[in-house]
Amino acid sequence: MNDVDINEFIKKSPKAELHLHIEGTLEPEQMFALGKRNNIQIPFKNINEVKKAYNFNNLESFLKIYYEGSKVLIKEKDFFELTWAYALKCKEDNIVHAEIFFDPQTHTSRGISFDIVINGIYKALKKAENELGLSFKIIMCFLRHLNEDDCFKILDQAIAHKDKIFGVGLDSSEIGNPPKKFQNLFKNATENDFVTVAHAGEEGPPEYIWEALNLLNVKRIDHGVQCLKDEKLVAKLSNDQIPLTVCPLSNIKLRIFDKLNEHNLKKMLDKKLMVTINSDDPAYFGGYLNQNLIETQAALNLSFEDIKTLLINSFKSSFLNEEMKKEWITKI
Ligand code: ADE
Ligand code: ZN
Repeated sequence: MNDVDINEFIKKSPKAELHLHIEGTLEPEQMFALGKRNNIQIPFKNINEVKKAYNFNNLESFLKIYYEGSKVLIKEKDFFELTWAYALKCKEDNIVHAEIFFDPQTHTSRGISFDIVINGIYKALKKAENELGLSFKIIMCFLRHLNEDDCFKILDQAIAHKDKIFGVGLDSSEIGNPPKKFQNLFKNATENDFVTVAHAGEEGPPEYIWEALNLLNVKRIDHGVQCLKDEKLVAKLSNDQIPLTVCPLSNIKLRIFDKLNEHNLKKMLDKKLMVTINSDDPAYFGGYLNQNLIETQAALNLSFEDIKTLLINSFKSSFLNEEMKKEWITKI
């Protein structure tokens, strides 16, 4: 099969997205519109200036701009519109199931109530479920640069919305904020029936992946690309088929790898790891899910079989029930 046909296959196949920060879908145009509507100053004169600023050196330099951009989100309607815009992208990319992160502490620290954030996101996803047939799970991420006490307070608020929030995750500045810092928090979250995941091994060492598995009881590792530095870890991830939600365009923008053709995703596939492709923060990193799949296929010369494996893995790695997983996989 040639690349043109593989691209058609990518576009047409049903797929799941498992690593997507809803705040990372805030397009510059929407940032300006919301800034104006809510009377919030943005540190950019125009959209071109915004796009120029999206030139990152590492995770930290991205997060600074990302948290700044989130300040235009004030009302429930803003969170609703943000999420609805992503649901329409799902339709475009044939994403039939999405597991979506949100970062409440980014908003509660600015005086926005937890209820406003979760209700806006949830109502948009329910509308997407009804009108677009998109199934979804919501995963609340703790900001790991904050302390565990702050995170316990936000967990209390999540418990009040247990009907809407499926799991908890861990994101933000990785280096210097190891998973072990949140061991008690994740134990408590597990006792309250939240499924757990964590960003680990994006910039941080393989040790952080071990900690996420052993101390936070995670069912999935977000990113995990640093795992190849540790053979024992690769064996464990491969034996247990622990899903890794890899985000290739994000990894290039944040300089984890210099170029897409130097990305280690093909090596991960060859080692029989349970890898999936995702978009992370598509408004900041230059592409939604299909773009990630298409560019990665071309750069790494992935075969039709590799792509099929990645799409099947997206469902196998999801938190859908076994029946739904099977149903989608047979359609690929
Ligand atoms: N928050 C949003 N995107 C992130 C990423 N790629 N890593 C860590 N925290 C994030
Ligand atoms: Zn992420």
